[in-house]
Amino acid sequence: MEKTRIIICGACGKMGGNVLSLLLGDDEAEAVAGVDLYPREIGVPVYKTFAEVQEQADVIIDFSSGENLVERLDYAKTNGLGIVLASTGFTKEDLALIDEYAKSTAIFKTANLSLGVNLMQALCKAAAQVLGDNFDVEIIERHHNLKKDAPSGTALMLADSVNEAFDNQKRYVNGREGIVGARTKAEIGIHAVRGGTIVGEHEVMFAGEDETITITHTATSKRVFAAGAIRAAKFLKGKPAGYYQMKDLLSE
Ligand SMILES: NC(=O)c1ccc[n+]([C@@H]2O[C@H](COP(=O)([O-])OP(=O)(O)OC[C@H]3O[C@@H](n4cnc5c(N)ncnc54)[C@H](O)[C@@H]3O)[C@@H](O)[C@H]2O)c1
Repeated sequence: MEKTRIIICGACGKMGGNVLSLLLGDDEAEAVAGVDLYPREIGVPVYKTFAEVQEQADVIIDFSSGENLVERLDYAKTNGLGIVLASTGFTKEDLALIDEYAKSTAIFKTANLSLGVNLMQALCKAAAQVLGDNFDVEIIERHHNLKKDAPSGTALMLADSVNEAFDNQKRYVNGREGIVGARTKAEIGIHAVRGGTIVGEHEVMFAGEDETITITHTATSKRVFAAGAIRAAKFLKGKPAGYYQMKDLLSE
């Protein structure tokens, strides 16, 4: 079987480096090029823009940022590549753009590529269904001090899973400050903690009368996300246009 040829967007960043090093020992996939706003020597050709890329590829793995999203989507569409969108921090407009491109391009998107968080989403939804409005839901996420977006894409994903149990009627309250008054039942609180080198912790707390349940996921290495992205890239190769998620990958 021919190897899945991958272009890494954000190749010179932390996640790009993890993907690259895992691919070195992979028999089924390889990195053929990188794109990064700040190119440097990493063992494969790295370009500043997709327009300069010379190499043929099957899939883009994107661990960069929400900026210039249209450039990578256009490149994938024009050249018939699949794209794993693992970056976070997309705006509402970006999400609409991604939906539009999914009509003509195979797009895999998730804010969290770990199996554990995927399971946690299901657990949180089930807990919310059982506990209902008797328990207040607050989400606390902790990440390293270099993370640019807040709250994390994973925290929002977990909030969405909880909210599904309430027919999407809850509203998200990011942090609290000042005289905010008593907490209402309509809220899901989301709190972003930043410090040191924390890879990623997500805690969903269900606080009821005289008892509290918390569901927590801790990532101890970024490798777990890089491995998930490579699995997604192999899954996406040759797939028809569409919007794919972790549940599609896991069910195959
Ligand atoms: N989905 C997941 O499971 C998951 C896991 C970890 C990180 N992430 C996300 O991946 C992204 C990257 O994380 P990181 O820790 O590697 O960050 P990083 O800052 O170490 O690396 C980002 C790299 O992308 C480059 N870059 C930024 N914008 C670009 C653009 N528009 N075009 C080309 N290159 C660009 C930067 O120069 C940098 O080298 C973040 O959005 C982060 O939240 C997602």
